[in-house]
Amino acid sequence: MRLRATAQALAALGVCAAIAVCTLYVTKSTAQTAKDPEPQAESNASPIYGVTIPAGYRDWHVISVRRLTGDGGKQKQLRAQLGNDIAIKAFREKTLPFPDGAMIAALHWTEVSADADDKVLAAGFPDAGLQSSFAGPALNAQFMIKDSKKYTASGGWGYADFTKGKPGNEALHKTCFPCHAPAKDRDYIFTRYAPTPGIE
Ligand code: HEC
Repeated sequence: MRLRATAQALAALGVCAAIAVCTLYVTKSTAQTAKDPEPQAESNASPIYGVTIPAGYRDWHVISVRRLTGDGGKQKQLRAQLGNDIAIKAFREKTLPFPDGAMIAALHWTEVSADADDKVLAAGFPDAGLQSSFAGPALNAQFMIKDSKKYTASGGWGYADFTKGKPGNEALHKTCFPCHAPAKDRDYIFTRYAPTPGIE
């Protein structure tokens, strides 16, 4: 009975959320129409570079993983760096600069403690104090796309940052290239190819 009530409550919440989102959307579009009779179509491409989300990036190959923490441990991110076939080949063969067509993704998540798994680990390895965590809610995805002719002004790379399918603003995209400059001698890529466990 309790389970069923909970399920019903959750379902009702889902409907409410959907209605809330729809209402917001309708309110937003009417507001836009009222202000501007011909609103600009929202672009799905990054400002400055015009990079859209590359198809199939979720299936690219693992370059490495990273962890980023800040704000006295309040901010905790897990990050995966992935590369398409051209990028991965260049990493493996240590080819620099990366050839045109190379694409690199950086996927960011909030790090969440895996408390239930910790109990299992504690049972198997008492006193080891093992703590596991996993990639929780999705944050943003960043991309670097190599096109040495198109992006001559930014070291041959086009940059893009997306949250929930929408690109960040121009101010954000102005920060990408200058901040990647310290990695110039590795063609502006900070992340190194991680060794392959099981083989190396
Ligand atoms: C404050 C400096 C800084 C800014 C601004 C910045 N990056 Fe980075 N970026 C880094 C560093 C350092 C790393 C490696 C560390 C990490 O990801 O945790 C990185 C990693 C990346 C990676 C993975 C490949 C690599 O170089 O390791 C991509 C892709 C990326 N950034 C894209 C972007 C995009 C797109 C923007 C702009 C929207 C951007 N970055 C802005 C510093 C920066």
